[in-house]
Amino acid sequence: MIVVDDLHKHFGGFHAVDGASLEIAQGTITGLIGPNGAGKTTLFNVIAGVLKPTSGRVTMAGEDITGLPPHALFHKGLLRTFQIAHEFSSMTCRENLMIVPGDQAGETLWNTWFGRKRIADQERALRAKADEVLEFLTVAHLADHKAGQISGGQKKLLELGRTMMVDARIVFLDEVGAGVNRTLLNTIGDAIIRLNQERGYTFVVIEHDMEFIGRLCDPVICMAEGKVLAQGTLDEIKANEQVIEAYLGTGLKNKDKLGA
Ligand SMILES: Nc1ncnc2c1ncn2[C@@H]1O[C@H](COP(=O)(O)OP(=O)(O)OP(=O)(O)O)[C@@H](O)[C@H]1O
Ligand SMILES: [Mg+2]
Repeated sequence: MIVVDDLHKHFGGFHAVDGASLEIAQGTITGLIGPNGAGKTTLFNVIAGVLKPTSGRVTMAGEDITGLPPHALFHKGLLRTFQIAHEFSSMTCRENLMIVPGDQAGETLWNTWFGRKRIADQERALRAKADEVLEFLTVAHLADHKAGQISGGQKKLLELGRTMMVDARIVFLDEVGAGVNRTLLNTIGDAIIRLNQERGYTFVVIEHDMEFIGRLCDPVICMAEGKVLAQGTLDEIKANEQVIEAYLGTGLKNKDKLGA
């Protein structure tokens, strides 16, 4: 579904992504792991159109999407979440979801979707959709809570919810489990699996929690120093010499993350 071919992203002389090539197969939940600073977020940002690549190519279903801006990719059903949740804190959780289609797609799509229907109708439809999403994520009780006042984990869930307000085809999740307690992490995991199985979403998941990766992801891709080191099942990745070395090279903290 997505093919990344020899992608480079340089910041000055620093090669954050340094010739990465990989493929994301449709219908998979693909894991992207690697030690801190491996270039995972930068790779996401380039694919999702937030950053222009220095060189290389990204295609989606055979179509060149290299360097397309986020809103154009949004129209194609390519969505991403952020490593740091970016909710509108003074709006309620429901409102945070309701603004997604208009927020990202702009007036044109808005009009196409709703034609000449009255604004009240549009709002009712969005509200129903938002409530359905919150229900799906098992946080219906948070609908009227201000997004600034929910927990970090619940904000991550809301981030996932944003991708459900439109018809996503492929969703890039950047550390959706970071700082999230085990119970909530399981809820997030369940939602991802259901969206994958029931709605056909393809996911690419950056995560440091190997238990989470192991439960959800096949295949797993490991990056280090801007390059793809290996691809396989988590067990294969964990047994890969180059992968172990990459984690060891960045210190004990990262080695523990691999659980090797
Ligand atoms: N805008 C930028 N300008 C300069 N250097 C950057 C920029 N963005 C990222 N980098 C550097 O590029 C490297 C890769 O960063 P990136 O955030 O992609 O890593 P990561 O794999 O997502 O790490 P983590 O697991 O810690 O989130 C890091 O060394 C980072 O400092
Ligand atoms: Mg990152």
